[in-house]
Amino acid sequence: MKSTKMITAILACTQTALLANGLLVDSQNKMRNAKQLFTTILRNKNTSLVDYRKATDSIASILACEAMDHIALKKVTAQTQLAPFVGLEFDTNVVLVPILRSGLCLLPTFLRYFETARVDFVGLARDEQTAQAHWYYKNFGTLTGNEYIIILDPMLATGGTAVEVLRKLKTSGANMDKIIFVSVVCAPDGIEKIKTEFPNVKIITVSVDTHLNDKKFIVPGLGDFGDRYFGTE
Ligand code: URA
Repeated sequence: MKSTKMITAILACTQTALLANGLLVDSQNKMRNAKQLFTTILRNKNTSLVDYRKATDSIASILACEAMDHIALKKVTAQTQLAPFVGLEFDTNVVLVPILRSGLCLLPTFLRYFETARVDFVGLARDEQTAQAHWYYKNFGTLTGNEYIIILDPMLATGGTAVEVLRKLKTSGANMDKIIFVSVVCAPDGIEKIKTEFPNVKIITVSVDTHLNDKKFIVPGLGDFGDRYFGTE
């Protein structure tokens, strides 16, 4: 059994190594304390359902603001009560793609930040034995290649589901330079799998944990994100 100090040190090393290898957008160094505070609540197995949902909303707000850094904005001129000023507004359409089921946990908050976004859904189930992803639902609107696509999946584990979704988006007309993958906790395996096949996809995350266990759960992780958020465990 590893001590908390040791796990924290290993996590820091994993993240530094990944950043040094250019595997991640440098998102983990932003708003570090806020992220740590809310993920501590999510990771604690004794956290209540209500507190888990609140912490999810707080983390999702941080991630939504980070995602905005990767989306084109255009200048607009407006007027304060005192003088004209030049501000910013969205320049292009945004499509949110929550991966069912746990991607739904991030959706309400993302819709507050991306109010006019279209929402496309994908559903893949993970075979508990093989950890392979199987499609059971897909509802995409038309993709022109001009839109920014934000994929929502709080736990990036093996990357199998993520890569399946990215392949489907590519064949449906998405511009792979305009895809942002948003996750709360990642395993190094998942990041590597995405970056090997889709190096231009941006990954925004709070934490890169150390490894996957033999059931392909992220360690230390937080358990099953959807079960904990929806109260189904
Ligand atoms: N999905 C989860 O909810 N948790 C994990 O650890 C891995 C995949």
